[in-house]
Amino acid sequence: MGSKNLKFNTKTIHGGQQPDKAYGAVMPPIYQTSTYAQTTPGGHKGYQYSRSANPTRTALENSLASIEGGEFGLAFGSGIAAIDAVIKLLAPGDEVISTDDLYGGTYRIFKKIFEKFGIVFHFVGMQGVDAVRDKINKKTKLIWVETPTNPMMNIIDIKAIAILTKGTNILLAVDNTFATPYLQLPLELGADIVMHSATKYLGGHSDTVVGALVVKDKELADKLYFIQNASGAVCGPMDSFLVLRGIKTLHVRMQRHCENGRAIAEYLKNNPKIEKVYWPGFEDHPNHHIAKEQMKDFGGMISFVPKGGSYYDAIKIVEKLQVFTLAESLGGVESLAGHPASMTHASIPKEERLKNGVVDALIRLSIGIEDVDDLIADLEQAIE
Ligand SMILES: Cc1ncc(COP(=O)(O)O)c(C=O)c1O
Repeated sequence: MGSKNLKFNTKTIHGGQQPDKAYGAVMPPIYQTSTYAQTTPGGHKGYQYSRSANPTRTALENSLASIEGGEFGLAFGSGIAAIDAVIKLLAPGDEVISTDDLYGGTYRIFKKIFEKFGIVFHFVGMQGVDAVRDKINKKTKLIWVETPTNPMMNIIDIKAIAILTKGTNILLAVDNTFATPYLQLPLELGADIVMHSATKYLGGHSDTVVGALVVKDKELADKLYFIQNASGAVCGPMDSFLVLRGIKTLHVRMQRHCENGRAIAEYLKNNPKIEKVYWPGFEDHPNHHIAKEQMKDFGGMISFVPKGGSYYDAIKIVEKLQVFTLAESLGGVESLAGHPASMTHASIPKEERLKNGVVDALIRLSIGIEDVDDLIADLEQAIE
């Protein structure tokens, strides 16, 4: 059976994979090599130099393509390196329309690195498609969507934006880090490029930093392969192995992340000491109906603001947590808490941050797969 016809929970384990050609190893070996012996110049077995390609990375890239329902996967040294490769498809004068509420590092590479090379970025609230349509002009070459957004958990209608770009020369890229292909398949919804910080749920164990792109179109894949090799920010063999191993349990981990996420979102919503909880599974979330349509469940990311909270109240809460670890990042088996204003989103100017609702008292939780009773008890003692 071709791996395209497999169900998602089988693709995570077998998609794009074959036993290793040398000895039949079931798990792809870590080919920790920079170069490959040739019998005569050009006489090699498909690999010449590990920046261009490495068998462990190929195994990961095939797995990524399979789980995202694409044709071609590319693995990078970080999520940011994957974003960097996408923007290098553009030329000076080209314009990008990006989600306004997005990961601080994505904002930083757009504004602080690429703007000085003449690429123009427009940051737009994409909860309604009209705002995106209004910004499109002849110079628009890319629409950058993050959904759910980091950290406000806004939901953007991928299918509706894909209708705007269909038949044009505008690419639609979706950062699928928060949802993962377990919950949402952007290529099926009409996106051209799916991007991941595989550091997060795909790796799943907070032990590596990796980025990924997946596309369907051969010409686009070739351009991205060229950039990957020419710019050189590739994923190493050990890191490729770790993400491959992580992907094999993605579906079981995600199921638990979602269950625990729901229980904690409801606990926070019913807690009189909490002012506001951001989670797309609530029926009163402004784009809940879209989340319900394009996602299988609502994920394990939640943000909240304590009642009457100040910067210092938020800091006190995150410092008091004991089962949750105060740390950057998300998507691992362990629960993490973060303070976006001083951590993940500190690189966004305060006025921009506040415009998007990222107030000083906002706390972001990445709900892990521990026993949910322990997680709730930990939040209870910290909020008290
Ligand atoms: C949504 C999102 N996109 C991209 C990135 C960047 O990925 P990396 O840290 O792997 O470079 C992150 C990192 O936190 C993220 O949360």
